[in-house]
Amino acid sequence: MASYRILLTPGDGIGPEVIAESLKVLEVVQKRFKHEFQFDEEQVGGAGIDAHGVALRPETVEKAKKAAAVLFGAVGGPKWDNPQAIARPEDAILGLRKQLGLFANLRPVRIHPLLAADSTLKPEVLEGTDMVVIRELTGGLYFGKPQKRWETARGRQAVDTLKYSEQEIDRILRVGFNLARQRRKKLTSVDKANVLRTGQLWREIATEVGKEYPDVALEHQLVDSCAMRLIREPSSFDVIVTENMFGDILTDEAAMLSGSMGMMPSASLGKRDRKGLGIGLYEPIHGTAPDIAGQKKANPLAMILSAAMMLRLSMGLEKEAAAIEKAVDDVIAEGYRTPDIAGTGSKTVNTIEMGDLVAGKL
Ligand code: IPM
Ligand code: MG
Repeated sequence: MASYRILLTPGDGIGPEVIAESLKVLEVVQKRFKHEFQFDEEQVGGAGIDAHGVALRPETVEKAKKAAAVLFGAVGGPKWDNPQAIARPEDAILGLRKQLGLFANLRPVRIHPLLAADSTLKPEVLEGTDMVVIRELTGGLYFGKPQKRWETARGRQAVDTLKYSEQEIDRILRVGFNLARQRRKKLTSVDKANVLRTGQLWREIATEVGKEYPDVALEHQLVDSCAMRLIREPSSFDVIVTENMFGDILTDEAAMLSGSMGMMPSASLGKRDRKGLGIGLYEPIHGTAPDIAGQKKANPLAMILSAAMMLRLSMGLEKEAAAIEKAVDDVIAEGYRTPDIAGTGSKTVNTIEMGDLVAGKL
């Protein structure tokens, strides 16, 4: 019986509620497919600040490094919202990404046909949309130095630094090309080469790496026009690859194509072994939703689908991952919806009921 260590970091707001439902589903997978999952749990984010004074303890990072994967809820909330505070909940996710070397963030965007009608976009615009956005995760503006603020005689100033090395750009582009190769063989590299030096370097390296992948059609697109095309012609994308900050913004936009952030999983990956597996951090792309926390209204499907990505990308358990995804599709097909995706004629259920329904299908 194969055994896998999983570190759970529920975090804040609806994080613990949705983590609990993914756990329920993983427990069924464990029995049905005869695996052993060893769960450990750590407080991070605001919960970490309350419990230990910091968003992310070194002990937590050590545990994460020994695990096959981290299942991450969400962090942040009004209680810890002072932007000048020394400890910020976001340090937990940023620290884990950086310290685990998780440089590639994969955010798949698939529109469930039964949910298309509830999107803010017209169903005919959404038809056929099936893309993966790959966001560079450990470089760029989020981590570049200097990053600071200070006082001057003429007022306050602050600086962030947008810096990328050839190695960083090269390795994320390769993640993009390799994924495109397994899909429809189209890669859109997104930059701001008309203004930024980092954008020019990005485009140059994308073109160079592209020569090694003649079977993949590479196109370059400026980030502003990409934002526009995402809502005008979303089905024209296959794989998008872009730098950290642009990826942060574009993936929130792309997530809304599906009608709700509550449906969108993500994987953050580092170096892979020869089988293509390795440690990863898996999290829904939604936040802590403090307005509905504790009310059993949260949609656990993004978290459950993130757990499926974990089984596939860190453990190589393809059958198990596909079984979870099918269970989610079946529950949706039967008309069950949490409030965020409820539409006419659907049966509204709460967080726990949704978790039970998916677990029951397995
Ligand atoms: C995301 C989030 C994070 C980010 C925050 C919570 C730091 O918005 O994962 O997209 O900006 O990367
Ligand atoms: Mg974001």
